[in-house]
Amino acid sequence: MTSPASLPEHVAIIMDGNGRWALRQGRPRTDGHEAGSDALKRTIETALKYRIRILTVYAFSSENWSRPKSEVRKLLELFLRALNREVRELDEHGVRIRFVGDRSAFNPALRDGMARAEKRTRDNSALLLNVAVNYGGHADIAGAARRLAEAVARDELDSKQIDADRLGAELALGDQIPPDLFIRTGGEMRLSNFLLWELAYTELYFTEVLWPDFDGGDFEAALDDYARRERRFGGLGEVKHA
Ligand code: IPE
Ligand code: IPE
Ligand code: MG
Repeated sequence: MTSPASLPEHVAIIMDGNGRWALRQGRPRTDGHEAGSDALKRTIETALKYRIRILTVYAFSSENWSRPKSEVRKLLELFLRALNREVRELDEHGVRIRFVGDRSAFNPALRDGMARAEKRTRDNSALLLNVAVNYGGHADIAGAARRLAEAVARDELDSKQIDADRLGAELALGDQIPPDLFIRTGGEMRLSNFLLWELAYTELYFTEVLWPDFDGGDFEAALDDYARRERRFGGLGEVKHA
C-alpha cells in the first residue's frame, strides 16, 4: 500500500450503480440500494483503516426526486433504517456524521433521525462522514450567493469583500478542505451536480465497478492510483525548469 504521506485526507464518492446491480440479477432496483448500504459500511471501515480524515458520499441528489415515487419512498425508508441501525457502531468507531443538502423536503422522522445522529456523534474525530442528501451543487452555490447578497443588503458586508474564499466559505462544506480524491462507481463519467465548486482541483477516479460490489480492494486501487498522480494546481510541480 501507499505511504501515509500520499494518502488523500478527503475522499468524495458518487455511489452509483445500485439499480443496475439489482436488475442484472433479476431483482428490484431497491435491492441494489439495500446492498449499497453494506458497501458504504465497508467503505467507512476502509477509510478508518487508512486514517482518511473526511469522507463525503452522495446518497441522494436533488434530481433523484424525478424517479418513480415508489423508488424514492423505498430509498428514504432504507436510509432511515440504515441510519438508526448503524449510528451506534459509527459512534463507537469515532465517526462524526454530518448531513449536507436541503433536508426541509424530508419527513419529520427522517429529519429527526438525521439531527439525532449529528448530535450523538458531534464530538467524534476519527473520521468526518458527510452524507449528501437532497444535495445539488448548483443549489449550494446559489444559496451561498443569496446569503452574501442578503448580508450586503443588510449593510453587514461590502460587495468588494466577496471573493472566491468568501463564497466558498458559505457552501455546505465551507468549513472543510476540498476533496483530494473523487471516486465515481458505476461507469458514468460525469459529476451529476456533486460538489461542483469543491472539485476544482480534485483528482478524479472513475471505475466500472457497481457500488454494491465496491469493496476494500477497490478502494485501495483508487488510493494507489491517487498516490501516483502529480498534483500541480496550475504550477509546474516536479517538471524541471529550463
Ligand atoms: C445510485 O444508484 C444510488 C442513488 C442514485 C440513490 P442508482 O440507483 O443510480 O443505480 P443505477 O445508476 O441506476 O444503476
Ligand atoms: C448520482 O447518481 C447521485 C447519487 C449517486 C446519489 P445518478 O444515478 O442520480 O446520476 P445520473 O442520473 O446517472 O447522472
Ligand atoms: Mg445512477
